[in-house]
Amino acid sequence: MEVIIQPDADRAATLAARLIAARLRDKPDLVLGLATGRTMERVYARLAEMHEGGGLDFSRAQSFNLDEYIGLSARDERSYRHYMNRHLFARVNIDLAHTHLLDGTAPDLKAEAVRYEALIRTAGGIDLQLLGIGEAGHIGFNEPLSALMSRTRDKALTPTTLKQNAAMFGGDLEKVPKRALTMGVGTILDARELLVLVTGAAKAEILARAVEGPITAMVSASAIQLHPSCKVIADEDAAGRLRGRDYYDWIFRNEPEWAAFRD
Ligand code: F6R
Repeated sequence: MEVIIQPDADRAATLAARLIAARLRDKPDLVLGLATGRTMERVYARLAEMHEGGGLDFSRAQSFNLDEYIGLSARDERSYRHYMNRHLFARVNIDLAHTHLLDGTAPDLKAEAVRYEALIRTAGGIDLQLLGIGEAGHIGFNEPLSALMSRTRDKALTPTTLKQNAAMFGGDLEKVPKRALTMGVGTILDARELLVLVTGAAKAEILARAVEGPITAMVSASAIQLHPSCKVIADEDAAGRLRGRDYYDWIFRNEPEWAAFRD
């Protein structure tokens, strides 16, 4: 794992977007794993700008999102399908037929989870999985005690997550769906590369536990320590509780793979 710390949330998101763009240029038929949430809005804005500027082609890319609320249809503006269309898909030249999300209205949720896993396999697996970390320590909606080998399934959300996401539902906790479909921790770890973006002081404690704490199902984000190719990008506020800071900064300043991203 490598941890790269940037001065602010904007610079952190820009670096994440530049990394995604570099992977897409190297492999135009990249299979991208995508996340939603506030942290990612800036990343998608940067990617859209790069596309609009003529420098980024999504025409052969495919995408798989991590999760979707149960009970919200794609037409519901609070659904993650709607979020993705708004923030990214409508702004770049990706083929909508190549963008995949779990269907939160599927009549048989287990069958929907099996279908999604099969679809990822058929696509050849995910090349690059983008991840945020929730205040409950989740990646995707893998709430505490999610098995580290879990696969795509439905999951009950914790009160911490319901509170974190209430803003999208007019601040009304009662309106936040209580369950979601999510890729499992094991599904996420199958991706060939992980890119984790974490910003803001509210995430400082959980980021330190995920990156430097013990690997535990209580913090599903700590499973990223098991992945052989994982990059974490954080802003100063989120990095405030990390102990290995000096070494992380040294890596960014000195390792050749980061040379193109240092300015
Ligand atoms: C969303 C997702 C979640 C978020 C996490 C952080 O698809 O998978 O794990 O990445 O909850 O959300 P924000 O960025 O809103 O703090």
